[in-house]
Amino acid sequence: MSNKQRRSLVPSNIEQLSRYIAGKTINEVVVAYHPSKIAKLASNENRLGFSSKVQGAILKALPSIQNYPDPLANRLRQAIASKNNVSEDRVVVASGSESILAMLCRTFFHNGQNAITANATFVGFFVQMGVRGAHLKKIPVTKDYRFDVKALVNAIDENTKMLYVANPNNPTGTYITRQEFEWMMDRVPSDVLVVMDEAYYEFAQDVEDYPHALSYSYDNVIVLRTFSKAYGLAGFRVGYGIAREDIIDNLLKTKLTFEPTALGEAAALAAYEDDEFLKKSIEVVNEGKERLYSFFDDKGVKYVRSISNSVMMVFDSEDEAIAFTQAMLEKGVILRRIHAFGLPDCVRVTIGVQEDMDHFEQSFEEIMIAK
Ligand SMILES: Cc1ncc(COP(=O)(O)O)c(C=O)c1O
Repeated sequence: MSNKQRRSLVPSNIEQLSRYIAGKTINEVVVAYHPSKIAKLASNENRLGFSSKVQGAILKALPSIQNYPDPLANRLRQAIASKNNVSEDRVVVASGSESILAMLCRTFFHNGQNAITANATFVGFFVQMGVRGAHLKKIPVTKDYRFDVKALVNAIDENTKMLYVANPNNPTGTYITRQEFEWMMDRVPSDVLVVMDEAYYEFAQDVEDYPHALSYSYDNVIVLRTFSKAYGLAGFRVGYGIAREDIIDNLLKTKLTFEPTALGEAAALAAYEDDEFLKKSIEVVNEGKERLYSFFDDKGVKYVRSISNSVMMVFDSEDEAIAFTQAMLEKGVILRRIHAFGLPDCVRVTIGVQEDMDHFEQSFEEIMIAK
C-alpha cells in the first residue's frame, strides 16, 4: 500500500450529519426511574391506539409475507386515489412520508441547487437534504412561530428547486392560512416544486382557513400524508404523496422497490376504512388540547396554540427546557425537546388520552412544588 494521502472515505456532507437520537423508550424510562405510570408524549403518535379492524387485516395478510409485496401497493393506492378524487397515477405509497421526503431529495437535486424552508420545522427534511448534499436555505419563523411566507418567496433564486412547508408545522403546530397559501402559489415559479407536508392533516382539516392543498389544481405541488399520526400506525411505516402524474412517475424511479411492506399496506387499508376510529382520535386530541391550554393558562406557562396533535411549550432558556424535560421524564412523562428542529428553548407535548393528560398535569404540579 502506498502512503500517499487518500481522500476521506465518507463524503463531507455525511460526516457533518448527526445520527438520530431517539427519545427514551418506555422500557428505558421504567428501568432508570421506576415511575408509577408512563405517559409517552414525545413523538406525536396516536395515544388512543389504532383501529380495531387492523389486527384482523394483518392476520389475513400474514400468509403472503414469504413473497415480496406489490411494489406500488396498488390496493392502497386505489383507495387513496378514490378517497381524494384523483387518478391512481397521481399517488405514490411508501414506507412513511419521511421516505417520500428522501425520494424527493434523491429525485430533484443535482449540483448547486437549493431548497427553502423554515428554520424550525420537521427535522427529517433537514436530514434528507443533508444526505443529498443539497443546499437548504432556512428562513426564520415569525415571532409567533409561523412559516414566514413572504420571506420564503423572497428567498427563491434561479437555483431553487423546492419549497418545503409542513402544514400544520411540526414542532410548532402552527399553519399557513388559505390566503397565505394562495398568495405564495401566485408567486412561486412553476419550475419550483412546493412540498406541502400534511402529516397532521386529519387534525387540521376542519380549521376554517386551513388550505386543503389538494383542493387546488396547482401543477407544481406535492401533498404528503401519513398513516403514522391520526391513524395510529407509526410502527408500520406507511405514508403517501399526491402530485401530477409525471412527478409521481419520476419519484417511482427512485423509490426503494418493495416499500411499503405487505403488512403495512394491509394495516393502512383497514385503518383507512375506519371513519369512527379516526373521528374519535380527532375528538381526543381536540379535547386534550383545550384541557392543556386551560392548564397552561392557569399556571402561567407560555405555549403556542396548535392545529395538530401536539402543543409546544416555550421556556425562557434552553437550560429551563432541559431541566423541565428531565424532571418530567423522571416522573414517567416522556416529552420531546426540539433543539434539532431549531428551537432549543421549546418542548413539545403530544396530546394523549385522559390518563396521559392527568399524569402530565400531576407530574407538572409535583415538579413545581419541589422547586
Ligand atoms: C411534518 C412531518 N412530516 C413527516 C413526518 C414523518 O412521518 P412518517 O415517516 O412516519 O410518515 C413527520 C413525523 O413526525 C412529521 O412530523
